Amino acid sequence: MSDTGYDFGMVGLGVMGRNLLLNIADSGYSVIGLDKDPEKVSSLTAESEKEHVKATTSAEEFISSLKSPRKIMMLVPAGAPVDSVIAELTPLLSEGDLLMDGGNSYFPDTDRRYAALTEKGIHYMGVGISGGEEGARRGPSIMPGGSADSYDMIKPILEAAAAKVNGEPCVTFIGHKSAGNYVKMVHNGIEYALMQLISESYHLLKKGVGLTDGELQKLYSEWNEGELNSFLMEITADIFAKKDDDGEALILNNILDRARSKGTGKWTSQNAMDLQVAAPTIDMAVVVRDISAIKEERVAAGKVFPVEEYKMDADKQTVIKHVENMLKFAYITAYAQGFAMIKKASAEYGYEVNMAEVAKIWRGGCIIRATMLEDFRQAFTENESLDNIMINSGLAEKLSSYQTDIREAIKLGMDAKIPMPATMASLSYFDLYRSSWLPLNLIQAQRDFFGAHTYERIGKEGVFHTIWK
Ligand code: 6PG
Repeated sequence: MSDTGYDFGMVGLGVMGRNLLLNIADSGYSVIGLDKDPEKVSSLTAESEKEHVKATTSAEEFISSLKSPRKIMMLVPAGAPVDSVIAELTPLLSEGDLLMDGGNSYFPDTDRRYAALTEKGIHYMGVGISGGEEGARRGPSIMPGGSADSYDMIKPILEAAAAKVNGEPCVTFIGHKSAGNYVKMVHNGIEYALMQLISESYHLLKKGVGLTDGELQKLYSEWNEGELNSFLMEITADIFAKKDDDGEALILNNILDRARSKGTGKWTSQNAMDLQVAAPTIDMAVVVRDISAIKEERVAAGKVFPVEEYKMDADKQTVIKHVENMLKFAYITAYAQGFAMIKKASAEYGYEVNMAEVAKIWRGGCIIRATMLEDFRQAFTENESLDNIMINSGLAEKLSSYQTDIREAIKLGMDAKIPMPATMASLSYFDLYRSSWLPLNLIQAQRDFFGAHTYERIGKEGVFHTIWK
């Protein structure tokens, strides 16, 4: 045990680990990194010649150089690498030390590791971190989960490293056990949804309205100045300005239309189904990535069902307004689905998440940061147990005023044979949610007809069964 030594240790000096370590060092903390790769170790020490930044390939040296109780974060790929770092470090750690996982770990894995290390007297936290390379270096949004006591040990360091919005750090104790990884997973689900919604607007504006890349660039950057202000809108505008190395075409137009994924969006949809919470915009975003992957089949099917040239018969400026409001509407519904998931998961898994705090720390640093998150924060501040942000009076007013536009935009998309599944799922989510009556009495009747599954009756307690034939 040592009272002197480094304040913070990082295992894994890939871009994220190294950038976050340097970010923490900027606030004056002494930091040490551990990586098996000597090149990563020497490149960190070469980049920062400051005395309070060190790196090593030796786990023993790393552990013995840290101040007690030790505060260590792992930033290694999710899955088996996390378990193998835990297996290597655990025998070297002492009771009371804190080990954090800063990667995109699957939340049930975090629960398993939390239980195992808590039993050994080691503080364990699953810490969601968003913001990519730049965020890690300049200030990410940080979503730590575990126990409040563990969080208190690391709070000053995380607050120093996090992005700031109006002076408030984008980090808070998210909740118990795997709450941090869970909330980061849902963050990524929303990220998938927003990206898909923007790409559908691009499809409609390019193929339906006939806008040029230059016009699209102008439009997205204008939209980013208004209510749609968000990191994803900002980078979309930037993408439409970036020429390829030959200086002529946009890089965008040379990129194959096949989207990859690392799994967090799929986990969000899978868990939404497990919790029986509807997240259709996120589901569609995952579906579209899957269909995008079968490029050869799409090309072949396109020959079987060719789409004729579309000539739009509507005023261009009016359509652009429809599309802008379509995005505003769909953005709100995508966040609504994510927040509804977090609320249900918090109750189901005992996380005790403060929803307003989640909205607050997503305002800066992370990939889904957007000005409208302040509205969501206020909605949860006004009503802590709000079931769905769509029924907050301010947001309800916005949805009401944009709903004609999203319907008009979808009609245009349908006429032009442009697939807009995430946008349509957003509108359907809204239409379903505000339906006091749904035709599901028929489904109950069918279930009872073929399977004697019984049904409930209006105005009578109990369950009923009918001999239908
Ligand atoms: C972030 C990002 C980050 C990562 C995504 C990409 O918040 O910083 O979400 O976690 O870039 O996992 O996910 P896909 O590769 O699945 O698109």
